[in-house]
Amino acid sequence: MKKKVAIFISGGGSNMVSLVEKMYNSQFAWPSLVLSNKKNVSGLEKANALKIPTICVEPDEVNGFDLRFESVIQKELLNHRIDIICLAGFLKVLSKGFVDKWQGNILNIHPSLLPKYKGLHTHERVLKNNEILTGCTVHEVTHKLDCGRILGQATVPVLPNDTVQSVKLRVLEKEHVLYPKTLEHFCLGKSIPVIM
Ligand code: GRF
Repeated sequence: MKKKVAIFISGGGSNMVSLVEKMYNSQFAWPSLVLSNKKNVSGLEKANALKIPTICVEPDEVNGFDLRFESVIQKELLNHRIDIICLAGFLKVLSKGFVDKWQGNILNIHPSLLPKYKGLHTHERVLKNNEILTGCTVHEVTHKLDCGRILGQATVPVLPNDTVQSVKLRVLEKEHVLYPKTLEHFCLGKSIPVIM
């Protein structure tokens, strides 16, 4: 039985599109739901165009945990019989209670070479520290931010005249390859991390 995947987004959803296209092409899992915590984002339109069921659940609490929000999304996940959650540019922090329920079945992509540069503003910090290499990491989600087991990692060079925008775009292009490939490995039960 193919695993059913829900993808959580908060914006443009370019990673979501790359995950869906890979699942459509390679058939290792089925994209079953796209969930946004923000309405009117272009990612929802892209999901509709790809014929994936979408829902938008807006939290009452913008910054902290929101248990009503999480109970609504939990019901939706169960209704759609979801097996795996992929966070893809999802900008709402989830509570320990929620993450524990999905432990081992919830993935995230982060735009840095974890364990370096956890949290926000990664590209700014990479440039400030004159790094010559950056990249992206797919990891399991635990209640500790950006700390779960690393499932895939891809490196990207930082070039002499790079700006935050140019590094961000170069890393994002790599994310679009790394995340689908890592999800495929994960669904097929391959335990060795994807390194690119
Ligand atoms: C990506 O850079 C991802 O690593 C970060 O947020 C961005 C989302 O982009 N967490 P998109 O919505 O997938 O286009």
